[in-house]
Amino acid sequence: MNERFNIVVACDLNRGIGKNNQLPWRLSGDLKYFKQITTETTAPGKYNAVIMGRKTWESIPPNFRPLSGRYNVVLSRNETYYVPDGVFRFASLDEAFEHLEKGPVEQVFIIGGAEIYNQALQDHRIGLLYLTEVRHRFDCDTFFPDYKQFFQLLTSSEIQSENGIEYSFKVYKPNLLA
Ligand SMILES: NC(=O)c1ccc[n+]([C@@H]2O[C@H](COP(=O)([O-])OP(=O)(O)OC[C@H]3O[C@@H](n4cnc5c(N)ncnc54)[C@H](OP(=O)(O)O)[C@@H]3O)[C@@H](O)[C@H]2O)c1
Repeated sequence: MNERFNIVVACDLNRGIGKNNQLPWRLSGDLKYFKQITTETTAPGKYNAVIMGRKTWESIPPNFRPLSGRYNVVLSRNETYYVPDGVFRFASLDEAFEHLEKGPVEQVFIIGGAEIYNQALQDHRIGLLYLTEVRHRFDCDTFFPDYKQFFQLLTSSEIQSENGIEYSFKVYKPNLLA
């Protein structure tokens, strides 16, 4: 397993990411991109893992969870929190990593929400930040932390447009990563 984890997020120009425990927008191109980068592996027999907070897990419509083709890891401090068979629940990021290291896991992606992003951005194991920049200001109640001073831009896609909303796929690396 790659000892670094990646972060995947879509945020608007205010760094808004959610409202009422849902995504503030519907961008099928971004969902497709999310699925592709979190699912694709290079080694046969290996899978990627997605780690998410309990609220993000609950925000996924029941018929779309667990996210297919990936190990789904839900973080909750509630020891009795129910997750279906095949989904893992851990009480901390460290516990999740310890467990994932033992399995056929290629890459780990932290997929939110804000509470988990906040912790992940302070972790020394951080690898790449896959950030979809939604070029609009939505009414949000949940935000991605202020990240720009800690990262440098590696790549930026052409601007996509969907339902009158423009967005682009950006990849950043932490300043401290060679
Ligand atoms: N735009 C995007 O890319 C994106 C991505 C993901 C989510 N979102 C949005 O973000 C919002 C949800 O974010 P959120 O910050 O409210 O919630 P969240 O981060 O998804 O989940 C918070 C919960 O995770 C658990 N948790 C947090 N830190 C933990 C730790 N260190 N160890 C164990 N468990 C831990 C706790 O669960 P317990 O209370 O059960 O202990 C906590 O209540 C939604 O609106 C969602 O749509 C947006």
